[in-house]
Parts: sequence; structure tokens; C-alpha cells
Amino acid sequence: MSTSREVARVGVVGCGLMGSGIAEVSARAGLDVVVIEADERAVQAGRSRIEASVDQAVRRGKLSEARRAETLDRIRITWEPDELVDRQLVVEAVPEVEAIKLDTFRTIDKVVADEGAVLASNTSSIPIMKLAMATRRPEHIIGIHFFNPVPVLPLVELVPSLLTSPTVVEVASSFASGTLGKHVIRSQDRAGFVVNALLIPYLLSSIRMLESGFATAEDIDTGMMQGCAHPMGPLALADLVGLDTVMAVAASMYQEFKEPLYAPPPMLMRMVDAGLLGRKSGRGFHQYPPSG
Ligand code: 3HC
Repeated sequence: MSTSREVARVGVVGCGLMGSGIAEVSARAGLDVVVIEADERAVQAGRSRIEASVDQAVRRGKLSEARRAETLDRIRITWEPDELVDRQLVVEAVPEVEAIKLDTFRTIDKVVADEGAVLASNTSSIPIMKLAMATRRPEHIIGIHFFNPVPVLPLVELVPSLLTSPTVVEVASSFASGTLGKHVIRSQDRAGFVVNALLIPYLLSSIRMLESGFATAEDIDTGMMQGCAHPMGPLALADLVGLDTVMAVAASMYQEFKEPLYAPPPMLMRMVDAGLLGRKSGRGFHQYPPSG
């Protein structure tokens, strides 16, 4: 690889729930961050999301006022993909839709000048090889999968494809663990990787339980919080992840394995049709006040 192993300039494509968190933790680690969004409105929304999160970190005593300002200064959000030109590592975090991700990888491949740059996806479930084959440099593509909320949860899944070069694995691993301080686990390139392969069937089971009238949403969530010490119940967690994302991840896993336990239940599909996407839309299995 032609780049130095020490990554200093990071790009993030997409500034939704995950992209904003990835940009925040990268800037908090002292990196220079360029974030790409679709248009001016999305740029504003992304900036507000990052500001709200760093403000929360200050309120919780995790970040000083001075570091808050430095963090925000290190992040530039724009709708010009060409600004990725000098990035050494780019993380794609656009919606979990294969066509959108393929298109994004074609753009990143075209724009990023450094032939040694690491081009990563935060996909939850789409095989990395599919994304790699959309580019002219499949050996530089890797999955770096974060967990929501990114500033809070310590895990990152590292997912090399069959073609990812060992140097790219090394640089991505050192970025996630050394620079960002995340705990890294490895997964083979299978839809869902390690965590979603276990988590999604659990979330879907809770939705089927609700759908069949077995128990109320409150009792299902309370059961897992108070009976198993989970920080939140499965329906509240599905709302946090976003029901559109839960459905897309389940669909990718169903497509890969054809296991009925991965098939999205009708209730989930109808809620997504209705725009009831969980926290981000104000209503999912629970209701959320507008100011969060
Ligand atoms: N930066 C740094 N720290 C922050 C922060 C921020 N922006 N916001 C909050 N924190 C810290 C708080 O200070 C607190 O730390 P402490 O324990 O040391 O005091 C901790 O985070 C918890 O924060 P809160 O008190 O605000 O919130 P809760 O205690 O209610 O926890 C939660 C909220 C972290 C969301 C918790 O309920 C939780 O962990 N839920 C499970 C989330 C989960 O499972 N996520 C994975 C989803 S799957 C996924 O993402 C993969 C995808 O592919 C689908």
C-alpha cells in the first residue's frame, strides 16, 4: 500500500444515525473528517445530529467544552463527493439498500485519488464482496461495522472479503482499535456477520410475538429488561436501530440463507410502508417526543 499506515484523513459518506456517529468518534480521536451528504438540507440535518450528540457528551461529562469545539472544527460536511479526493480511509454509511451502496462505492472509487486508501462499508448485512466488485480495487474494500449509538457502544466488526488484502485488514484494524479505541471482532463475509446474525432473529421473534397477540409491546420489552438485564427491550431496540434498517438487514439475511427465521414479518413490513420507522420518525413500536 502506498499510504502511511497512520490514518489522519477520514471520509464518511452519509450522515444519518450511523454516519454521524462515525464522524463524531473519528473527530474525537483527532482525525480530520470530511462527511458527504446528498444535498444542503441533509448537510444541515447531519450537522445538527452531530452537534446534538457532542452536546450530550458534554452534558454527561464525557467531553470538555474545549474538546467539543475542537471536535466540531475537525468535521466538514458537504454535498460534493469530490471532497473525498485526499482521504486515506473512507467509511460508507448510506441507507441499507444494495443499489444505493453499489452506486456509492462506484463514486468513492472514482473520486478517492490515493490508490492505497482503505474503502470501508458500515453495512449491517450486505456481503462485502458485492460492494468490492463494484469498484476497480476490490482488495481495498473491507467491512468496518459500528454499533448504534456509535459514541457509546465499544464494538466494531471487521469483515474482510475473500479479496481484501492483509495490509488493508491491518490498517482498518488499527484505525478501529488503536485510533478509535473500539473493541474489534472479526467475521467472515456472510450476510449479518456475527452480531446481526444473532440479533435480528431475536428482534423479529419479538415482532412476531407482538403480531400474534402473545403479549403487549410494554410487557415484551419489560420482560427482557427485567428478566435478562438487557439495557432495552427488543421492540425498543428495533425502534432505535430503525425499522427500515431492521427490515433491510433481515431481507439481506433471508436472501443469503433462505432461513424462515430471517424473513421480515408482515407487521414490520406494513410499519415501514407506513413510515413508522421508530425513533427517527417519532413512532415505531413506541412513541417518541419530537425533541428526543
Ligand atoms: N458520547 C459519549 N458518551 C455518551 C454519549 C455521547 N454522545 N451519549 C451518552 N453517553 C454515555 C453516557 O454518559 C452513559 O455513560 P455512563 O454509563 O458512563 O454514565 C452511557 O453513554 C449511557 O447513556 P444514557 O444514560 O444517556 O442512556 P441509557 O443508560 O439510557 O442507555 C443506550 C442508552 C446506550 C442506548 C442503552 O440503552 C443501550 O446500550 N441499548 C442497547 C443498544 C444496542 O444494542 N445497540 C446495538 C444495535 S444493533 C446495531 O447498531 C447494528 C446495526 O447493524 C443494526
